[in-house]
Amino acid sequence: MIDFFSDDMRRDPFAAYDQMRRHSPTFHVPPPFDAWLVFDYDGVKRVLSDHDAFSSCVPAPRNWFIFFDPPRHSKLRALISKAFTPRMISNLEPRIRSLSRQFLNKFIESGKVDLAENYSVPLPMMVIAEMIGIPSADWSRFKFWSDQILLLSHTRSGTEKAAQAIAGFREVTVEMSAYLESMIKERRAESRDDLLCRLIEAEVDGEHLTQEEILGFFQLLVVGGQETTTNLINNAILCFVENRDQLARLKASPELLPSAIEEVLRYRSPLQWMMRTPRREVAVNGQTIPPGKLVLPMIGSANRDMKQFPDADKFDIAREPNQHIAFGQGIHFCLGAALARMEARIALSDILVHLKNFDRIGTEPWKPRDALQVHGPAHLEMRFEPAARLAG
Ligand code: HEM
Repeated sequence: MIDFFSDDMRRDPFAAYDQMRRHSPTFHVPPPFDAWLVFDYDGVKRVLSDHDAFSSCVPAPRNWFIFFDPPRHSKLRALISKAFTPRMISNLEPRIRSLSRQFLNKFIESGKVDLAENYSVPLPMMVIAEMIGIPSADWSRFKFWSDQILLLSHTRSGTEKAAQAIAGFREVTVEMSAYLESMIKERRAESRDDLLCRLIEAEVDGEHLTQEEILGFFQLLVVGGQETTTNLINNAILCFVENRDQLARLKASPELLPSAIEEVLRYRSPLQWMMRTPRREVAVNGQTIPPGKLVLPMIGSANRDMKQFPDADKFDIAREPNQHIAFGQGIHFCLGAALARMEARIALSDILVHLKNFDRIGTEPWKPRDALQVHGPAHLEMRFEPAARLAG
């Protein structure tokens, strides 16, 4: 029986995925896990997007709209989309660039770094804080909240650690709620150009977001916007170190960077699976899944399906077409995709230009990150040619 949660498998699940797609594209893991895993591209796409058959209401924090179904999901998504606009995201570009330089400057003269800990983790975290409008004086508090919320996805349900994570999450929710209340008061007294102001003002059919809904969205941003983007950056570096020819190709043709980022999203998808539950009996790949069971559409496997991607196990930065589903599919399609792509573009162009001749230190297999759903290294020890600090 394959354990998809073992470290070895989380580091390199792709041969096992291939076997599953060939022989059991829909596979039932018996109790106590009792979940149905779907591995093929068409099956995964259907589970993600057929919201009549598959509900997103799975056991999870109750205020996060990612776990809502229509019509409640449609209302919340419409309100949030009014605030979370392409313009708001593109306005963040100079600030993200400056944050990227600040983090690089802390280690660029030394010639070595744990890139995960010192760059790929703090950058997306600070981008979310900045976007929400949290003043820099409160960033350490925000980091503490983030770490507590992320613990929720680091633990397997039913364990002692999971119980502690849930208790920690409750405490943080109370603290964040009080903090948000005072931030909202400030914004009502004096409007600002930040996401919080836009969320307060957003209106669809005379309805506004409640404070509880805004809090739920902020917590979802912490989980959805940080760990995922961190892994996109780290996984890109892993792909380049393992495929030096593709790194050389990108350096010779930097205009390929956006397409290279899409290939990293496909080849090492930051989120390997999502969760759904059937509303009724549903057949997928000839297997009947009973209502109410847990279904995991395996995004990381779908993105390696040979039927969809010729030479799927080859990392090709100019792959065309590349209809990967790393950001999901359908009504829940990632709201932060444009932001994640922009952050990756800024981060990778800075790393490629300024960390010359980078390589991994050591050859031992990397340790996967704690959150079971994500794919990527917990640490990324790198060496490169030391350089002078950057301006800006
Ligand atoms: C590489 C980075 C990212 C990846 C791979 C990713 C992946 C995904 C996926 C697969 C979904 C669909 C969930 C489902 O169908 O149940 C999703 C939804 C979502 N993502 Fe992302 N995400 C990334 C970055 C971000 C960022 C930066 C943000 C925000 C700042 C964000 C916010 C969201 C939100 C709010 C949803 C829920 C949308 C809905 O339910 O309507 N994500 N993301």
